[in-house]
Amino acid sequence: MTFDPIDLGSFWMPKQSSTIAEEIDTAYYIVYWLDVVMFVALMGALAYFMWKYKRRGPKDKLSDVTHSTTLEISWTIIPTILVIGLFFVGLKGWMKAMVAPGNALEIRTTAEMYMWTFTYPNGNVSVNELVVPKGQPVKLIMSSKDVLHSFFVPEFRVKQDVVPGMYTTVWFEAIENRETVLFCTEYCGVGHSDMMAKVRVMEKADYDNWQETGLLPGEKPLPPAELGKKLFTTRSCNTCHSLDGSRIQGPTFKGIFGRTEQIADGSSVKVDENYIRESLLEPNKKVVQGYPAVMPTYKGLLKETDIDALIAYLKTVQ
Ligand code: CUA
Repeated sequence: MTFDPIDLGSFWMPKQSSTIAEEIDTAYYIVYWLDVVMFVALMGALAYFMWKYKRRGPKDKLSDVTHSTTLEISWTIIPTILVIGLFFVGLKGWMKAMVAPGNALEIRTTAEMYMWTFTYPNGNVSVNELVVPKGQPVKLIMSSKDVLHSFFVPEFRVKQDVVPGMYTTVWFEAIENRETVLFCTEYCGVGHSDMMAKVRVMEKADYDNWQETGLLPGEKPLPPAELGKKLFTTRSCNTCHSLDGSRIQGPTFKGIFGRTEQIADGSSVKVDENYIRESLLEPNKKVVQGYPAVMPTYKGLLKETDIDALIAYLKTVQ
């Protein structure tokens, strides 16, 4: 999947696109500037004392200072006060980040090698594309189907591990209509760096319309083959299947329709409408010889019209 580069916002940080972003950045900058001041002061003092008390000849004596109670008390108390202050800054932000508002829109999020699936309250599903309304808290209830992944949207300043066998949650409220990027930020295998999704923030009315029709603002319904072409990338078929004959994870789609494939069990199958359909819904039933049986099922993730559209598209890939 290709994405527009992230809007860098400032030299230091991505754009702040959620309600919590500013507070997170403030906490970051407090720590950052404290560090800068302390680093400069300490290194400056070190350099100065090295120069001032350098042993310049055999007559210079070693210092006979053994300790300084005033100094020791101050370098204990000042950092303690700073650290306690930082604790409360962090605690305040952390409590806000951990507890989703009661009216949050809950979206079930599943991570697996190497894609993201989002299931909305009405049962709609989107793959590698998270669509959310602007100005409404969104809570993601996340789990992984295989290994550790991690949900990270830099512009929202939210990051949370996604773990097999348990739920983790994260919430945010987007403040601007825009597209941004969700990264997997836990190394999860060879496809890790491609495990991204698009995040679309839109007006509530556009969001409702997308839920209803699957159409983005300004979009018209597509003819099947064109819809299939779109699904090929938006449903991340392209992560594993090439169009140019090269081998990725799965067989290439170049000239796929009508081709005869050798199946792992020794039989063969002609690729027709039924085989494509079966491969989408029960991908590991007839795996092509020499390829790993790793394709996830698209059962429940594609509408009947989507399957028809993919078949129509694959007929055109020669
Ligand atoms: Cu999933 Cu890295």
